[in-house]
Amino acid sequence: MKVVVLKERRPFEKRVAATPDSVKRLVALGCEIFVEKDAGGGAQIPDEAYREMGATIVDDVRSALGTADIVLKVQRPMTAAEGRDEVAGMKAGALLIGMLAPGSDRAQVDSYAAARITAFSLEFLPRITRAQSMDVLSSQSNLAGYKAVLDATAEFGRAFPMMMTAAGTIAPAKVMVLGAGVAGLQAIATAKRLGAVVSATDVRMAAKEQVESLGGKFVMVDSDEMKNAETSGGYAKEMSDDFKRRQEELVRETLKKQDIAICTALIPGRQAPRLISAETVRGMKPGSVIIDLAVEQGGNCELSKPGEVVDVNGVKVVGHMNVPSRLATDASQLYARNIVNFLALVIDKASKTVKVNWDDEIVTATALTRDGAVVHPSLKPKAA
Ligand code: NAI
Repeated sequence: MKVVVLKERRPFEKRVAATPDSVKRLVALGCEIFVEKDAGGGAQIPDEAYREMGATIVDDVRSALGTADIVLKVQRPMTAAEGRDEVAGMKAGALLIGMLAPGSDRAQVDSYAAARITAFSLEFLPRITRAQSMDVLSSQSNLAGYKAVLDATAEFGRAFPMMMTAAGTIAPAKVMVLGAGVAGLQAIATAKRLGAVVSATDVRMAAKEQVESLGGKFVMVDSDEMKNAETSGGYAKEMSDDFKRRQEELVRETLKKQDIAICTALIPGRQAPRLISAETVRGMKPGSVIIDLAVEQGGNCELSKPGEVVDVNGVKVVGHMNVPSRLATDASQLYARNIVNFLALVIDKASKTVKVNWDDEIVTATALTRDGAVVHPSLKPKAA
């Protein structure tokens, strides 16, 4: 089995889909690995480190692609319209695995089908216990939650912990985390470790106990709607207009007394919920910082701008892009391990060949294309 690891070329992307550790594991599974030259550069992994684990470094990846059985990516491949068609040249029947964001470019999904590539998009992994070791959203969100707090410390003109010194006492920073899922819970833990006083809000009742177990105070809208706010998959639902209005009010009043807001709230397949209005930002104390991890999904804060730090009357609204990539080394390590765990479902260890187990719900949940057709239920069939 030939596995090709492509270099990531999208803006703000420094991660890589394989590491020396994952190469070693894949070689043990019977794979022959070809890594595009400098693919690990952004994650501080030199070509030599891959070579030492048995990978071949390829300068011109096109010839390797033509014979690849499996192609590994972090983000979706580049397209011809973007100046480089990374799928052209892949052989029929090859597997393409990554966070393929099929909603970003439907035509690209059709192109996988046309080329008879079997594409798997790991964002669609079901949230079942067996899939946890492959859960790319969790592995990356966890790091994003941690980094969001560090990014807040960098923009904040004050210290986080309470300090009692001969020159006087410094009060601890007050941090509010909006959205207490994977990223939010890690943000709470990180802010607590730095000595901040932390509160958090979410629409899922299950989050209350998790926030409290980390030493945070749970702040919530008093509404029966919260009993029903979680899908069977563990994600949040969109709330009613009345709930949204009450939540915005709660957030506005709470943030008047806070120093830092860490925004992590998301609803799968939709725009991120708008939790912090322009009016709320204007009501915050000068020197406060808002980190909006949801900025790429439209933002939890009305005033956040992708890739920018906006100053609103002394309140900094931070919209860093691709926050997991800001910790590219660790993010790549976890992502690459997620991929190795997923590959066990599409590789037959005994014969050392690609053999997709189409009876496995993890496989069917993530497959975008198969045998020349778009098969994922979330994607409408290709127009005739
Ligand atoms: P996510 O990234 O889609 O959303 C982040 C958070 O935002 C969620 O906690 C969500 O409830 C919250 N949110 C959405 N709308 C909101 C609003 N209007 N106001 C406040 N908060 C809002 O979700 P994430 O973090 O990927 O996962 C959510 C939960 O799923 C986890 O906390 C965990 O309980 C569960 N999970 C289960 C796994 C499993 O394998 N069993 C794996 C990973 C997560």
